[in-house]
Amino acid sequence: LLGERLDPEPLRYVMIRYQELARAAVERYGGSVEKFIGDAVMGVFGAPTLHEDDALRCVHAAVEIRAAVARLNAELRAALGIDLRVRIGINTGEVVAAGGRTDQMLVSGDAVNTAARFQQAAGPSEILIGWPTHALVRDTVDVEPAPPLELKGKSAPVPVWRLTGVRQGMRGVERRMDRPLFGRADELAHLLTALAVARRSGLCHLLTLLGEPGIGKSRLALEVRMAAERDGALVLTGACHPFQRGDTYEPLTQALGGLGAVPSLEATTEEVFWTVRKMLVSAAADCGVLLVLDDLQWASPGLLDLLDHLADAVRGVSLTLLCVARLDLLDRRPGWAGGKLSAGTIVLSALEQGPALELAHGLAEVTGHGDAAETVLRRVVATTGGNPLFIEQMIASLRDDTPTPGLPSTIQTLIAARLDRLDRDARTVLGHAAMVGDEFEPELLAELGKAEPVADLPTVLARLERRWLIEAVGPQAAGTFRFRNTQIREVAYAGLAKAYRAELHERIADRATGDDALAADEGAGRHFEIAARLYTELGRPDHAERMRAGARRILGRVGSRALARGDLSAARDLLRRALDGCSPDDAELPDLQVALGNALLASGRAEEASSVLRGLLDRSERTGDVRAKTHAVLGLARIGDGATPVEDLLDRAERAVVVFTEHHDHDGLARSLLLAGQARQAAGQYGSAVRALERSLESALRAGTALETAGALGGLAMSMWLGPMSADAAIARCEELLGSLPNGKGLVEVAITGPLAVLLAMRERFDEGAALLRRAEDVAEDIGHPYVTATLPLFTGRLLSLRGDAAAAERTLRGALAALTRIGDSSAAVGATADLARVLLTLGRAEEAAALLADSPVGGSPSQPAGWHGARACACARTGRTDVATTEIELALQAAGRTDSPDIQATALLDKARVLVATGGPAVEAAQAAQAAEQRYRDKGNAAGVAQAAKILRGDGGSAL
Ligand SMILES: Nc1ncnc2c1ncn2[C@@H]1O[C@H](COP(=O)(O)OP(=O)(O)OP(=O)(O)O)[C@@H](O)[C@H]1O
Ligand SMILES: [Mg+2]
Repeated sequence: LLGERLDPEPLRYVMIRYQELARAAVERYGGSVEKFIGDAVMGVFGAPTLHEDDALRCVHAAVEIRAAVARLNAELRAALGIDLRVRIGINTGEVVAAGGRTDQMLVSGDAVNTAARFQQAAGPSEILIGWPTHALVRDTVDVEPAPPLELKGKSAPVPVWRLTGVRQGMRGVERRMDRPLFGRADELAHLLTALAVARRSGLCHLLTLLGEPGIGKSRLALEVRMAAERDGALVLTGACHPFQRGDTYEPLTQALGGLGAVPSLEATTEEVFWTVRKMLVSAAADCGVLLVLDDLQWASPGLLDLLDHLADAVRGVSLTLLCVARLDLLDRRPGWAGGKLSAGTIVLSALEQGPALELAHGLAEVTGHGDAAETVLRRVVATTGGNPLFIEQMIASLRDDTPTPGLPSTIQTLIAARLDRLDRDARTVLGHAAMVGDEFEPELLAELGKAEPVADLPTVLARLERRWLIEAVGPQAAGTFRFRNTQIREVAYAGLAKAYRAELHERIADRATGDDALAADEGAGRHFEIAARLYTELGRPDHAERMRAGARRILGRVGSRALARGDLSAARDLLRRALDGCSPDDAELPDLQVALGNALLASGRAEEASSVLRGLLDRSERTGDVRAKTHAVLGLARIGDGATPVEDLLDRAERAVVVFTEHHDHDGLARSLLLAGQARQAAGQYGSAVRALERSLESALRAGTALETAGALGGLAMSMWLGPMSADAAIARCEELLGSLPNGKGLVEVAITGPLAVLLAMRERFDEGAALLRRAEDVAEDIGHPYVTATLPLFTGRLLSLRGDAAAAERTLRGALAALTRIGDSSAAVGATADLARVLLTLGRAEEAAALLADSPVGGSPSQPAGWHGARACACARTGRTDVATTEIELALQAAGRTDSPDIQATALLDKARVLVATGGPAVEAAQAAQAAEQRYRDKGNAAGVAQAAKILRGDGGSAL
């Protein structure tokens, strides 16, 4: 703009003057001038050297440039009659920096382009800043909102602020010192005791309080100051500043304030030391003096020398120097406080869980997040590793509606600056560790280090530990380390170049496919997944595909293992992820679909299961994969749940058994045989059900699948109880099965126990049965499974009835009925109702029983109508409705005849005898029915049943009716 109005020579002069003043301002605050383009100057902060407060430095530099230009203008106006108009744009963000730590460094990226756009949009003498910068300096700048800018490639207008001023000597984002002190009781007591001891010793006491950024040094120092003041001491405070390079002793000048002036720059060191010592000694003559200097890691060497000198030289008064600093102080002065007569150092570590959580709760309350869930606050505490500053800022960011969620930028910059000061090896190792996880082992790091060799891993780890970035897990280095907090790991991870990250993820994941492939876990799968994504972003599709294949393989394997264990939610997640990485013609696809389909089926997610299985069906029909198709058909048949007729289910299951036998597919066999067994059971064919279920169990054990094993075991006990197998044989087999269960198979144990207890009752071993049931109830209670808890009393009811304890049976069954209604299990409720009615009949309450059985249920396996109609027939017969009783008993006998169950048939026959006796039917017929019943009970070995039949045969009416 100037070029049109000025001759070349003066123009060059003006440009040079401007560029010089701009460079001076930028460099004064620790930035660098990257380039001059025409009349534009581009300054960069944070590269090549990163500071936690680069945004604030930049804002200071900008304001200073504006002031300097105004001064220059006064000169130019007089000499040349012109005015320079400066427009400044500031932005913060991730950039790509190339060229290393030299003058030719180049930065580029979206953040740079956006800064340029801000600059172009600024008016004369205006400074525009974007939100990422604003977030980092908001508490120390004066701004007014400017109209949002439309930027290329951004969907919404970008918010900007016009910077009007910046206040001196403050943090960009203030720390809140207004919260009560949580925890730290021991540390505080320790510091106060040190003060008390020093007061009496007559020596100058050098007390150093160290700790990582944000750990609460300044907050604790504040507490010490207040306590000292209460004690009547004179407290003097000052703080060092990271970039305002004033005078060497600036912080001390600030602290001594009222006492007098520290000699100016021209004074010799000796003069300064002498004057300061004199001032302090005379102040301390009247009362104790506590001199607190904060942030000494930024102190000038001269100031540190002076403190060192004071500690040695002051005698005979009560003076304590409380030096507060980050651990970096020890890098600058490894011998700090060494050789002093009276000195102490304490290092603050993280807040303990309890106080940290209290702090989090309090902060959530005062920042308007009182409604934040306990789990959220606990997570905050866990990820911050108990660093109060991080807790504070994570909680504040719950509210921040900044466009990029994630780590608050204040934390990000703080940590990034710490990592930036590490040596190359330490940075490399930390980066590798960040790839591995919150915890990591040196062996893996050594392996990763092969790409970028690190001289001596143990000493590097020790260095990182000393810098409070990592810590050993457990007592004295059992080998494993962890990050002090998750944020450190996040920043270390983000600091690695994408291509390098991809390569490392790949290397970690590849290990999992090597020797210890069987131990491959979800973590390895995740590494593959991330590597795949990174390679895709990097435009390397071949690599990405190789990674996806690895992810599929591992996640599929781990997912199938989870399914086999019965860990359904893990299985669903893992298998879904494995499938997501598949393309339509991957060989693994069918097996993954089978596994996911079954995981979804077992979780009761019929709709999702159906869509997966339909996909499998379509594909297998196209490819002619009979085995996969069979899995799909079988799975889909199970979804029909109730809609598919039992015969169809059985037919499908049996055909599947043939296919899976041919393919040696044990998993498929276990499932199809289980289905066949369950279908037979539903059809009342318990003998063949037992055979199918025994085979299913065998296959399930071979395939190692928990769900099918449990299903087969539960079904077996049920079918052995109801079926033709003798009670003694059934008891023996149930006990054998129970004995073969590993510990902790609670549900299966309970499922076997119910039928076993009734079998024992049949053998009149009532007490054993009752004891087993009580134990099972405890287990069910422990597991907290409502279905199991509700069904167990049905067995107890049966046992009590067989024992002849009708009153107890009534109580138990009424309770069971209520519970079953509550959980909505109508099918089990039907059985419970029929049983209860029988109990009421033995108690002579026929009307009640009849009322209970008023509406007949529909459907169900034959065992249910047999029991229900039989009971109803008896109730009607006893209440004088002979015709209904006659039809009902026919229905009962028909249903019972469709089963192979001696017990069900015997009950129906006995019911017939009871009806005939009650309605005055032919006595011969009644006796025949009772005899037939007795024979069946005898076949089964049901001694209790035999006794009941005998009672009727004896004409021993009463309760038997
Ligand atoms: N024990 C505590 N109870 C309550 N709040 C605390 C506690 N410790 C620290 N805080 C709060 O956490 C924030 C960080 O603490 P502080 O500023 O004292 O850290 P610092 O160690 O001095 O960090 P830096 O090295 O960056 O100066 C502050 O807002 C402070 O009030
Ligand atoms: Mg501090």
